[in-house]
Amino acid sequence: MNFFRTKSLEQLKATAEEPEHQLKKNLGAFDLAMFGIGAIIGAGIFSSIGTAAAGNMADGRYPAGPSLVLSILLVALICGFTALAYAELASMIPVSGSAYTYAYATLGELMAWIIGWDLLLEYAVSNVAVAISWGDYARSFLSNVFHVNIPGWLAMDPRTALKLADSTGQMGISQKLHLIADTKAGLANGAATFANWDVLKSAPSIGGFPVTINLLAVIITVLITWLCYIGIKESARANSIMVVIKVIILLTVVGLGIQFIAPANWHPFVPHGMKGIQAGAAIIFFAFIGFDAVSTTAEECRNPGRDLPLGILWSLGICTVIYAAVALVTTGMVHYTKLGGIADPLSFIFTEHKMTAIAAVISFGAVIATTAALLVYQVGQPRIFMSMSRDGLLGPWFGKIHQKFKTPSNATILTGFIVAIPAALLNIDEVVELTNIGTLFAFVVVCIAVMLLRYRRPEAPRKFLMPAIWVLAPAGIIGCIWFAKGLPWLTWIRFVVWLAIGLVIYFIYGARKSALQNGDLKA
Ligand code: ALA
Repeated sequence: MNFFRTKSLEQLKATAEEPEHQLKKNLGAFDLAMFGIGAIIGAGIFSSIGTAAAGNMADGRYPAGPSLVLSILLVALICGFTALAYAELASMIPVSGSAYTYAYATLGELMAWIIGWDLLLEYAVSNVAVAISWGDYARSFLSNVFHVNIPGWLAMDPRTALKLADSTGQMGISQKLHLIADTKAGLANGAATFANWDVLKSAPSIGGFPVTINLLAVIITVLITWLCYIGIKESARANSIMVVIKVIILLTVVGLGIQFIAPANWHPFVPHGMKGIQAGAAIIFFAFIGFDAVSTTAEECRNPGRDLPLGILWSLGICTVIYAAVALVTTGMVHYTKLGGIADPLSFIFTEHKMTAIAAVISFGAVIATTAALLVYQVGQPRIFMSMSRDGLLGPWFGKIHQKFKTPSNATILTGFIVAIPAALLNIDEVVELTNIGTLFAFVVVCIAVMLLRYRRPEAPRKFLMPAIWVLAPAGIIGCIWFAKGLPWLTWIRFVVWLAIGLVIYFIYGARKSALQNGDLKA
């Protein structure tokens, strides 16, 4: 077996053209740019921007403060290099599967599998974070506007509940459980220890363990999965409407907020030097993920060679301008130190200026924004499963296309489960960091892939050429590695464990069933 055998460009295209694998070709450049913006603007700009500005020194994260705008421009630059690489590859290999497909064409099957497995972090796992953030904003919106209060224990994962149970951060898990059990039984006088006591007191418990679950995150995941199941065009239409709303909301933040900027809040502009800028970049990177998701819809484009590069580059460019403005306004309206631990920073800055009605509108915007982001990843992930299934690395079940809806139906439902269950139970911060490291890894591989194909297949037709490839692609690689270095070591360990699990699955299944290894591919 040769684990480094690559799939030729001709083989890649032939697989996608098999009649049983045909998807509906409905999307144009505008739909794609909308898809990109739908994926990019989400939990990152509406939630993580506060953490990136305020930092968290207890976790070793330096605050970026007002220099967050520099973090944003830096991330945009590096993502821009990667976007050019994606654009060239997508125009050359218009096949669903994104970085997975490009790795198969260049670095061989083993690396392709690793990337396919890694992309689960970018698509499904990031959606876990987005679903959780959706739940947070939806809950505050329902409470502020309709006075409907969802009980805390139905809107929080168990890990966050346990974290909150100990405001000092000193207790071990068994100590927390004892204290919770004692306090519930009226035995402890340490109720004040609980920062979020109401949530825990009202939660049912099993064996002393408080049961908390993020129900809103689950509900939105189920609804979005259903939308993806019934069709790509319907998904694109719903997405376009949501994109328009969220862009208007962010422009409102900028347009209204600009008059409340107090220049004193921008001094010092770079409070923690490069360390702050790097830490800010490592977090806010999450807000940029998504321009690459456009490439997963390659087989549903009417003119992929032209439209994919346009969709990728336009969506990234538009979002960069909006983000930079939002960051300047946010850190100008309130001092960055006030943004720590705030789940809804863009509403918060208006509440601070006594504009509660605007704050409510922004919460609503965040709900819409995160819904659209959820939709795009929920569309992207099943298409990666489908590509891997066609290649025999996953079973045929994963690639089945629904007869009527022409969508990868089994993979869509599976993705729904993969997102909904952790969204009910996991903590958002850890999920965001894991997504970031996984995505940065995929970006590095894409920058390598574009150079390899330029070298090995210079004659293959490309409708888009990455400019200054030998400078920009290496710069993209170095930038991604630098951002990843800004992530905590625990995230690195989780990432390595994740890849190791993937390798075990590959050697148990994919390596034996691979269509390429077994000579089952059409040339
Ligand atoms: N960029 C996406 C978001 O911020 C992942 O939600």
